[in-house]
Amino acid sequence: MEEKKFKRTTVTAALPYANGGVHIGHLAGVYVPADIYVRYLRLKKQDVVFIGGSDEHGVPITIRAKKEGITPQDVCDRYHKIIKDSFKEFGISFDIYSRTTSKVHSKLASDFFRKLYDDGKLIEKESEQLYDPEAKQFLADRYVMGTCPHCGNPNAYGDQCEKCGSDLSPMELINPHSTISGAKPELRKTKNWYLPLNQYQDWLKQWILEGHKEWRPNVYGQCKSWLDMDLQPRAMTRDLDWGIPVPVEGADGKVLYVWFDAPIGYISNTKELCDAEPERWGSWEKWWKDPETRLIHFIGKDNIVFHCLIFPVMLKAHGGYILPDNVPANEFLNLENDKISTSRNWAVWLDEYLKDFPGKQDVLRYVLTANAPETKDNNFTWKDFQERNNSELVAIYGNFVNRALQLTKKYWNGVVPACGELLDVDKQAIQEFKDVKEKVEQYLDNFKFREAQKEAMNLARIGNKYITECEPWKVWKTDPKRVETILYISLQLVANLAIAFEPFLPFSSKKLREMINLKNFDWAELGSTTLLEAGHQLAEPQLLFEKIEDEAIQYQLDKLAATKKANEAAEAAKDYKAEPIKANIPFDEWEKLDIRVGHIKDCQKVKKSNKLLQFTLDDGSGTDRTILSGIAKFYKPEDLIGKDVLFIANLAPRKMMGIESQGMILSALNFDGSLSVTTTLSEVKPGSQVG
Ligand code: 2FM
Ligand code: ZN
Repeated sequence: MEEKKFKRTTVTAALPYANGGVHIGHLAGVYVPADIYVRYLRLKKQDVVFIGGSDEHGVPITIRAKKEGITPQDVCDRYHKIIKDSFKEFGISFDIYSRTTSKVHSKLASDFFRKLYDDGKLIEKESEQLYDPEAKQFLADRYVMGTCPHCGNPNAYGDQCEKCGSDLSPMELINPHSTISGAKPELRKTKNWYLPLNQYQDWLKQWILEGHKEWRPNVYGQCKSWLDMDLQPRAMTRDLDWGIPVPVEGADGKVLYVWFDAPIGYISNTKELCDAEPERWGSWEKWWKDPETRLIHFIGKDNIVFHCLIFPVMLKAHGGYILPDNVPANEFLNLENDKISTSRNWAVWLDEYLKDFPGKQDVLRYVLTANAPETKDNNFTWKDFQERNNSELVAIYGNFVNRALQLTKKYWNGVVPACGELLDVDKQAIQEFKDVKEKVEQYLDNFKFREAQKEAMNLARIGNKYITECEPWKVWKTDPKRVETILYISLQLVANLAIAFEPFLPFSSKKLREMINLKNFDWAELGSTTLLEAGHQLAEPQLLFEKIEDEAIQYQLDKLAATKKANEAAEAAKDYKAEPIKANIPFDEWEKLDIRVGHIKDCQKVKKSNKLLQFTLDDGSGTDRTILSGIAKFYKPEDLIGKDVLFIANLAPRKMMGIESQGMILSALNFDGSLSVTTTLSEVKPGSQVG
């Protein structure tokens, strides 16, 4: 196919829902690749705009607000800031990061809908939807819970069972109930507006299946499997009270479907940027309507249908807009072989990462790109993170830079020496560098970021090999002139690395440029051997990367292990069923038991037992009482001293481990087998009777 020429590129990155922070899955799947691409285009001096923002509508935000007793806008305000800050910290270089609750967006999305409506591009249809008769409102699928028909989980949602992973519809649930009022949902008729995707099926087939065979196989394949089925009209409005009101008479209580308004957010955020700085960006329309503009959407695989089918149909139906040229969607990243999950807190959150690894943004960027889930789901492990840092960033890239700069400092006081006659070994290193440049470009042009970064690292490998082969420390004694040339070439390679790694590791590139005083640079100079002139003064060398020790990794693994344990306990708690109640006993039998309050004066571990604690109780009698209890696994003795507990005072004494136990301290047996000592709510005198 003949390649089209473009004047500029609009790059978008999926708008994250403002109901949680950002984790490594988001970064690996969408934001780091988008940022690498944009930085690369900017370095090539191409005209590019990079659009981001928060997706602030949709049901999950309203659910969180309800849970916390705050408004949906409060939820958005909190998370918009957290997300925006995280992106900034990690160098995701958006030209604008706005939000779908902005005025500009409401108007643009509303006008967009109204035009489709006026042009007769939408279908008005009545359907039966779930309704909460007590709360007097329609219910989104997520607002309905019940028992999963597949696995019996009593806490399945109306759209999905989180236990067995089945996709559900609310009507399939056994005993469905509204999470708002607890009432049983009813079906009620309601009117909504639909986008007739079926009318665009042939066009979509032509446009994607014929016209975009170059799209990634996972993206093309998912589109094909949708297009092999009959597409159905899809509702673009919802009966909900959070969102952009439907701009049509008689649509009270209805809002635009979040997946209608969110992608329009890309357009409104571009408009906000251009309107604020027209001299720099020109009109927003040039970025969205000029056929010489190329549109690229970076997304995760769960967004493919919206960006490849629904949004393009919206744009086509509206008219006047360009369509996406490519949608490089990624698969998912797992964490330590388990699916990343916000609800199970199985994630590495960016703000936490930065607290634990301050200043190491590039290490995470590097590892996430090295493991980018470009063609299949991939896995992040802390061991691999450490390994890639220590044996690639430190031992290859950092090491080469350090060697070149330290040798220059030692032999030439940190000044770039002059280049003498080139030997074969020099020419070969230079040629290898030039070859790598071409490969990096090819990979980046084709959205193959893992491979591109691997090639960039190869530049550092070439540099290391060059220095090792040339052995300047030996040559210095016999031929110092030759050392000048070796250092000259090495320093040019270092400067090249600063350029080549800029899209991938922007923080380290900046640090390196400062170390070599490289002010102006662009991609076209990659491969050049005249980036640093003879006589150019370098700054003081510093280490570019530092080793990550085992303790830091173990700390992360322990943190995950604690999360897993807490999740397992929470799971077990969900399934917990109390033991059946024992047979009734007559009242006088109960009266035989003498239960009292005792004050713990002392508590010690019993020697040679990992189960028993020895208590010294004030039982109100004036004489201390000794009781042994098998709760050593669940308490530290010192934490119990001073507490008031319940104990059976008239149980026949028993000897354990050579100590006589005079009674029994009462504990509750928890669902997970742990024991919890029973105590009184307020202070009660020792010896008080319980009954
Ligand atoms: O899946 C998500 O997180 C969505 N909020 C992505 C929206 S992308 C675009 F359409 F705005
Ligand atoms: Zn289930």
